[in-house]
Amino acid sequence: MNNFKRTLVTTALPYANGPVHIGHLAGVYVPADIYVRYLRLRGRDVLFIGGSDEHGVPVTIRARKEGITTQQVVDRYHELIKSSFERFGISFDIYSRTTSAIHHQFASDYFRKLYEDGKFIEQTTEQFYDPETGHFLTDRNIKGECPRCHAAGAYGDQCEKCGSTLSPDELINPYNAETGNPLQKRPTSHWYLPLDQYQQWLEKWILEEHKEWRPNVYGQCKSWLDGGLRPRAVTRDLDWGIPVPVEGADGKVLYVWFDAPIGYISNTKELCDARPEQFGNWETWWKDSSTRLIHFIGKDNIVFHCIVFPSMLKADGSYILPDNVPSNEFLNLEGDKISTSRNWAVWLNEYLDDFPGKQDVLRYVLTANAPETKDNDFTWADFQARNNNELVAIYGNFVNRALVLTQKYFEGKVPARGELNDYDRATIEEFKNVKTQLEELLENFRFRDAQKEAMNLARIGNKYLADTEPWKLAKTDIARTGTVLNLSLQIAANLATAFEPFLPFSSAKLREMLCMDAANWDTLGSLNLLTEGHALGTVSLLFEKLEDSVIQGQLDRLARIKKENEEKAKEEELKNWHPAAIKTDTTIDEFDKIDIRVATVLDCQPVKKSERLLQFTLDDGVGQRTILSGIAQSYPDPSVLVGKQVLFIANFPPRKMMGIESNGMILSAVNADGKLVVTTVSKDVKNGVQVG
Ligand code: MF3
Ligand code: ZN
Repeated sequence: MNNFKRTLVTTALPYANGPVHIGHLAGVYVPADIYVRYLRLRGRDVLFIGGSDEHGVPVTIRARKEGITTQQVVDRYHELIKSSFERFGISFDIYSRTTSAIHHQFASDYFRKLYEDGKFIEQTTEQFYDPETGHFLTDRNIKGECPRCHAAGAYGDQCEKCGSTLSPDELINPYNAETGNPLQKRPTSHWYLPLDQYQQWLEKWILEEHKEWRPNVYGQCKSWLDGGLRPRAVTRDLDWGIPVPVEGADGKVLYVWFDAPIGYISNTKELCDARPEQFGNWETWWKDSSTRLIHFIGKDNIVFHCIVFPSMLKADGSYILPDNVPSNEFLNLEGDKISTSRNWAVWLNEYLDDFPGKQDVLRYVLTANAPETKDNDFTWADFQARNNNELVAIYGNFVNRALVLTQKYFEGKVPARGELNDYDRATIEEFKNVKTQLEELLENFRFRDAQKEAMNLARIGNKYLADTEPWKLAKTDIARTGTVLNLSLQIAANLATAFEPFLPFSSAKLREMLCMDAANWDTLGSLNLLTEGHALGTVSLLFEKLEDSVIQGQLDRLARIKKENEEKAKEEELKNWHPAAIKTDTTIDEFDKIDIRVATVLDCQPVKKSERLLQFTLDDGVGQRTILSGIAQSYPDPSVLVGKQVLFIANFPPRKMMGIESNGMILSAVNADGKLVVTTVSKDVKNGVQVG
């Protein structure tokens, strides 16, 4: 806050693999937009940078899911995200993308410079490789059995059943998540940024010089630093991304987390190069120490913005470093974690379609509930309550009464303000510090409290009108009525300014009703914003009540999604269990390691809540054994299987599904009508006999 001349504000570049949702908005874009609008109002030099993150594995996964090319995915979502932000009033100076030619060139040059300056180390490691597709796989594209809970279908980085963090090396029988192919280890070489060499410098820069960072940010940095930093690979074996600009690096691209933050710089350059007379030289924004750099991000991005990206900037040596990295915790939706893949979200584009003209309601609710210090929950009931009880009943009601009464008694012109009485003075006293309070909070990224302060001003106005009752006064004392309304209109004019960073659409509307010019922050707190005789415009409602039916519609939608997800989860469980997905690294030589035996079905029941699973109790010759099999749809009456002899694999590790442990696998085959049927033996055999 000392001697800076300009502020550069960046927001995490969202992956172009889906629309933006309320979690992104509450965590990053709404607070950043409030901050930028506030700085602009104060006449500060500020640049607001956004853009789509179009590389990385998430977009390629989406492409495969939707059956379209990766380029088509990023084109589609980039446009959708960009236009949603625009409609929502996120006031970026530029919203570009990391597939742009400018960015490719810039990021490539950035890497090249560090490479030539010897800032990287090269290391060869063994990575999982799919010999059939000829690709190395990223952690997320590898599946296998969880070494902890033995669930099938755990990812190379995490088991979603038990929540353990994993590395692909730990998976039992790893396979390619897309194809089911078994994997091999192959050596591959990559470039690493030796973060260990930056450890001391980072410790001093963050832990000593940035104690003012939010506790969640500071704390995460500290625990990373305390754990000791290690070199991080900045390249990947992938065919989607920016090619590594080094001889002999064919098939390798820059790691998405290397190129994406460079997007902040290349987007600035794109903007400045296009309009230098308006925005100046990009290097002033990135290399002049009188520029203050602020990154708005979500908590899952902290390490990249506080440790990795600053080290990249330091490695180059010519850049400034972030001054602050305001990061929010997560927003949940109706008690559950927001998830793009599970469609558990309120999508911005859908909100804008469902609630036309109500951008500010969502902005208000997301700021009122901002997860600034802890995770928070968005509920539709709260959304409705805050709209009806706060925006409508306090802010809207106050403004509307002040304007309507002025129309009624003073022909829509600001009445003269006579002498003030004690109550007027006490009211004025209550908000005389609103400007300094708002500034103090906004400068310190405390948007939630800042908005509360603005709302408090509306509360003061609303109470003033309720207590002075000008609609009654008008019958006996028109001069006093004028004074009360004059003061009320001044408060309304102040509200238009105070709310300008938070609720820009409503502020514009209110200024129009008051026939006010653009908001001027310096006048905040003044009682002379509207002169006597100033004609007001047409009055309309600032906010409207939200009916129960509208809210119910949204709740019904979520209930539908929840149900769909439960069904999908069941199917997923089954898919992981299906032989095609379990393809082990078995070869013919190893065939005899699979232990196939004969058993008699003692009992066979459908598994509760599962549409596909049957629970078999077998006599395997030694005792009883439980095996689950996903063939319920072929056996509407599973009791027909009781007494039959079946073949099963005896030496698969136990797996738990729907809470039941399964010990092996029943062999089945697809018959003519496409149904799975168990493999039986034609003549009685002793249970437990090995087949093969
Ligand atoms: N795409 C990342 C995410 O959504 C954020 C990238 S931020 C940037 O988590 F700095 F890399 F651009
Ligand atoms: Zn597990």
